[in-house]
Amino acid sequence: PPLAAMLNSFDFESVAREVMEPQAWGYYSSGGDDEITLRDNHLAFQRITMRPRILVNVKEIDLTTTMLGIPCSLPLYFTATALAKLAHQDGEVAIVKAACKAGVPYMLPTLSSYTLDEMLGACEPGQELYAQLYVNPERSRSEQYVRKLEAAGVKALFVTVDAPQLGRREKDMRSKFTQQGSDVQDKDGDEAEGEVDRSQGAARAISSYIDPSLNWDDVPWLKSITKMKVLLKGVQCGEDAVLAYKAGLAGAVLFNHGGRQLDTCRPGIEVLPEVMEALREAGCKPGEFSVFVDGGIRRGADIFKAVALGATGVGVGRPVLYALASYGSKGIVRMVQMLQDELQMVMRLSGAPNVKMITDKLVLTTNLADH
Ligand code: FNR
Repeated sequence: PPLAAMLNSFDFESVAREVMEPQAWGYYSSGGDDEITLRDNHLAFQRITMRPRILVNVKEIDLTTTMLGIPCSLPLYFTATALAKLAHQDGEVAIVKAACKAGVPYMLPTLSSYTLDEMLGACEPGQELYAQLYVNPERSRSEQYVRKLEAAGVKALFVTVDAPQLGRREKDMRSKFTQQGSDVQDKDGDEAEGEVDRSQGAARAISSYIDPSLNWDDVPWLKSITKMKVLLKGVQCGEDAVLAYKAGLAGAVLFNHGGRQLDTCRPGIEVLPEVMEALREAGCKPGEFSVFVDGGIRRGADIFKAVALGATGVGVGRPVLYALASYGSKGIVRMVQMLQDELQMVMRLSGAPNVKMITDKLVLTTNLADH
C-alpha cells in the first residue's frame, strides 16, 4: 500500500511483516519467553482512562518541550534498537535523517549496523543526539566509545542495565540467524563477525558485548569517564530509581527492553507512579532527575498518559523500525507526524494546550496494577 494509506502506527507493523525477511522479522518482533510483557506494554496504556477538562481555550496547541536540554517538537525520542540494517539498507542513517526532519532526538545504539561516524555524518547541523551504551567486558573499549560520543557532542548517555544476560526470544532463536546485514560493528569500525555465535539467533549473537558484572559500584566510574549526562536504561522499581538519583545520575528510563528480557515484568508506564512517588519521598525536586518511559507507545494518547504521570518524555522502538522497513526514512517521518497529530487532538480534547498542562489530574490510574 502507498504511504498515504497508513493511518496509525500499527499499520506499519502489518506492512513490515510482509516486506521483511523472516529472520529480521523474528529478531525485531520477538519478546522474551511467552511474550506476556511484550503484549502488556501497549495494553497497560489502555488501562489508564482520561479525565478531560472542558471550556479551556484550546485554539492553539503547543507540543514542544525540552528533554535533557534538547528542544523537541514533542515529548518523544527514537530509542536505541540494535541492527537497523535488518529493516532497510540505510539502517541507522535513515533513522538519523528522519529524526532530523521530525525534530526529535535519536538514541544511537551501541550495536549499530553503521559506524558512529556514518551515523554522525547523516546529521543535519543542530541535530541533537543521545546514545545508548552496553558496557563492554573490556571497560577500556567502552571508555573509548564514550569519549568519541562526547567529542561528537552527544548530549546524554543511556546505560542499558537490564540485560546482563539476553532474554530467550524463541521466535528469533527459531529463525537461526544467518542473514547478511546483521554485521555488528565494533566501535573501532571492525566487524565483530568472527567473534559471535549466531546459531542461537541474533540476540544471543550479540550478548558477548555486555558485561554481566556491572553493578552499583561501577556508577562512579561511569560518571568519571564523561561529562555527558548519564542515565540508567532499565529501571523497574522505586528503590532503584532512588539509588540512581542518590548516585547523582541525571535520570532513568522505565522500560523492559520492549518485552524482550524478563517476561511477566511490568510495563514501564505501570512502574511510573511508583517511581515518581519514591523519588518525591527521597526529596527529589521536579526537574532534578528525568524519568522516561518506553515500550508499547503506539498512540498520541500513550505519550499524553506517560507525561501526565510524570515522564519527561517517551521512547519509541519498533514503530520506527517497522516504518523504516516499509517506507524508508520518509515512513518514519510520517509515523511521527501521526503520533504528533494524535497527541495534539488528545491535548485539545483534554483541555491541555501545552505540555506543562498535561498533569496527573487529566488521567485515572485506578485500573493499573499498583492501585
Ligand atoms: C531493542 N531494545 C534495545 N535496547 C537497548 O538498550 N539496546 C539495544 O541494543 C536494543 N536493541 C533492540 C532491538 C530491537 C529489535 C528491539 C525491538 C528493541 C529495546 C528498545 O530500546 C526499547 O526498549 C523497545 O523497543 C521499546 O518498545 P517498543 O517501542 O518496541 O514497544
